[in-house]
Amino acid sequence: MIVLGIETSCDETAAAVIDYQGSEWRLLSEVVSSQIALHQEYGGVVPELASREHLTNLPLVVEEALVTAGISLEELDGIGVTRGPGLKGCLLMGYCYAKGLSLAHDIPFLGVNHIEGHILAPMLDNPSLSFPYLCLVVSGGHTEIVEVHGVGDYKLIARTIDDAAGEAFDKSAHLLGFPYPGGAALSRLADTRESSRFLLPRVMREQAGFSFSGLKTAIALLLKRQGTIDEETKGELAFTIQESIVDALVYKLKGALASSSIRTVALTGGVSANRRLRREVEKLKADVYFPQMNHCMDNGAMIAFTAALRFARGETTSLDTEVFGRWPVEELS
Ligand code: KG4
Ligand code: ZN
Repeated sequence: MIVLGIETSCDETAAAVIDYQGSEWRLLSEVVSSQIALHQEYGGVVPELASREHLTNLPLVVEEALVTAGISLEELDGIGVTRGPGLKGCLLMGYCYAKGLSLAHDIPFLGVNHIEGHILAPMLDNPSLSFPYLCLVVSGGHTEIVEVHGVGDYKLIARTIDDAAGEAFDKSAHLLGFPYPGGAALSRLADTRESSRFLLPRVMREQAGFSFSGLKTAIALLLKRQGTIDEETKGELAFTIQESIVDALVYKLKGALASSSIRTVALTGGVSANRRLRREVEKLKADVYFPQMNHCMDNGAMIAFTAALRFARGETTSLDTEVFGRWPVEELS
């Protein structure tokens, strides 16, 4: 089965083609066009600009994915496209474009949940990973621990009550003067240090769920006390910010492992590219899996893979459907 996957839920226009044969699969192509440069001067994603950019990029990105794969539209057995959650205007661009292709070329159509895509990305890259596993989803918009029992069978264990981990990285990075999105750059600086003079509160250890909004207040106050900061101070602050976020994630993951019989852990989402986090999670008493670095961030491959798994179960989505801004994975089946 040859499936095209399309992703436009936020600021990446992405497409991929997968050849899925049940127990085996192979990515034939993948293309990602990032809009980071476009949004950088505004310090965050501007939804209207993002939607327009998707519209411009979609035909080019999809064409490139098909040409690289050596597959024509007529050879496709299915098109999967992100249906939600995400920015509605952005989702609509990909969803309508995919509907058009499906209708014009009579190709089966499937709306994919973006977070399910992230949850299954570790499996895409590690065929030895099998259900059930505990998945820590850490992206720019989502932070949750999910028990993954099978395709569409997800039990939510913990979720953030405010900011997501990636957002905490990006907002902290912004306070330290890094351009948007900043998380990866902050982490690169943090990795050059081994200690820090500064201490930040350990984030919400007692209650269930995650909370990162207090972190940015603590950093803002600390910066106010410091006045202007030199490079040395900036490095030490980056180190302590990363420690604080990683500590919260690993602490809650440990708790979830302790109260579950599942001994397999998978990380996913943009923040799962974080080296410090990967190192700490590898110390857990569990089999640990990560997606490839290029599948941590938003990509079309995870959408193509998820669609293939669902097409293989005989599922399709009617063309007479809408996108979802909000679409929790625990509501899937
Ligand atoms: O999964 P993703 O591409 O988009 C969403 O679905 O949100 O995640 C993007 C997030 C951004 O907040 C970015 O700063 C963060 O992942 N990120 C990192 C690293 N690489 C990306 N955060 C910390 N360390 C990194 N190495
Ligand atoms: Zn994402």
